[in-house]
Formats: sequence, structure tokens, C-alpha cells
Amino acid sequence: MATNNDNGIERRTLFTAAAVGAAAAVTASFTGGAFAQGAPTIAAIPLPEKLFNTAKAGISRKTHEEHYELYKGYVTKVNEIRTKLTALTPADLGKANASFSDLRELKTEYTFALGGVRNHELYFRHLGGTGGDPEGAVAAAIKASFGSVEAWKADFKATALAARGWVWLALDREDGKLFNYIGDSQNTYPVWNAVPVLAIDMYEHAFYLDFGRAKAKYIDAYFSVIDWDAVNANLKAAVTAAKGA
Ligand SMILES: [Fe+2]
Repeated sequence: MATNNDNGIERRTLFTAAAVGAAAAVTASFTGGAFAQGAPTIAAIPLPEKLFNTAKAGISRKTHEEHYELYKGYVTKVNEIRTKLTALTPADLGKANASFSDLRELKTEYTFALGGVRNHELYFRHLGGTGGDPEGAVAAAIKASFGSVEAWKADFKATALAARGWVWLALDREDGKLFNYIGDSQNTYPVWNAVPVLAIDMYEHAFYLDFGRAKAKYIDAYFSVIDWDAVNANLKAAVTAAKGA
């Protein structure tokens, strides 16, 4: 049933007018889709040579090579989706629908593909080191946040065993603390203003070839090849960004 406001104007009419106005605003400001200057493309990073040092712990070159092909697929999809987003017309935007629409598919799968790029680049870049206990600023931050390295490790390992995809150690820039959290898929459970500084990929493709179902063995091997210098660089960048420098 239509209702009237104080001026006697039918509310349904107001909604219709607002919708038309919004559509006009979209049309007026439309500059060629999601990227006004054209879709920027990204390129796959090369795998760091040091990454292959993980073979000594049982995470093989073959696993990384296969993994790299998956990663490159995410890069390709990011570029493909950006191109499609850029080609959208006002008419396409007008078909936006939360149950199903091309726009919804593009927007949701964009975060999946871009997450796949970011997650894997973090992972590839900080493996192939000498492992052992954390060093430098990240060691101090872990102790301040978890009480001890052992407590952090126990929580990180358990979190990884509880995950279906990703687990991150992240700096929460709101309170300056580190915490471990799960992001099952490439784009699930983001926490805003939290910056991952360490990642473990718990998708089967990251370990099954080398460890079968023995997830715990993979996690132990992972601990033994972390490059703490790379993690410290990630933490420094996150802290610097938090200070707005
Ligand atoms: Fe992966």
C-alpha cells in the first residue's frame, strides 16, 4: 500500500524519483567503467630462486612449479576481469542484481582473482629461508602479542590445521598487535586495517604432492624454511604505513 508523507506526496513516487535521479547521476559521471584511464594490467612476478631452497625441508621444486602455474592463472584473470569491468556500459550497470548479474559475478570474482595474486606473492616471497625462531622486530612483536614464540607457533599451527585455504599472521594497525587468522578462500574473511606479514597456503595443492594428507608435516617443514628477513621487511612496511609515513 502506498503511504503519504507530510506533504501528501506518495512515498512510492519519491522512491521512483530517487531511483531515476540515481541512474541519471551514474550516467552523468560514467567514464568508461571501472577504470577511467583504461584497465591497468598486472604481470606475474618471477619465483624467487631462494624459494627452491624449501626442497631441503621436503617442499619440492615440482610443487612450486605447479603452484606457480596456478598463480599465473590468477594474474591472467585479474587482467581479464579488469578489461571486462572497463567495458561495462551504463546499461550493464543498470542490470546490477544481488541474486545474479554479470556485474555481481565480475565484482566478486575480481576479489577472488586479486586475492589469489596477493596471497601467493606474499607466500612465495618469504619462503626459502633458514627458518628457526623469528628474528628482529617481528620476534619482539610476536612476543609482545602472543607472550612467547612457542605460543605463537602453537596458535599458528593449530589455525593452519583449522583452515581450508589461507592463514595469515597480520599486524592489526588499530592496536599494533599481531594476530593469526583464517581466510579459507582467496577472498574470505578480510579484516580491514590489518596487514598480513606472513602467510601459509593450506590448499592441498601446496602440500599434497610432497606430504599427502600429512598437513602437520607440511606446516613443520614450512616453519623450517621461513625467511625472517622477508617477514621483517613486511612488518616494517606495515608499521610505516600505519604511521602514515
Ligand atoms: Fe595456492
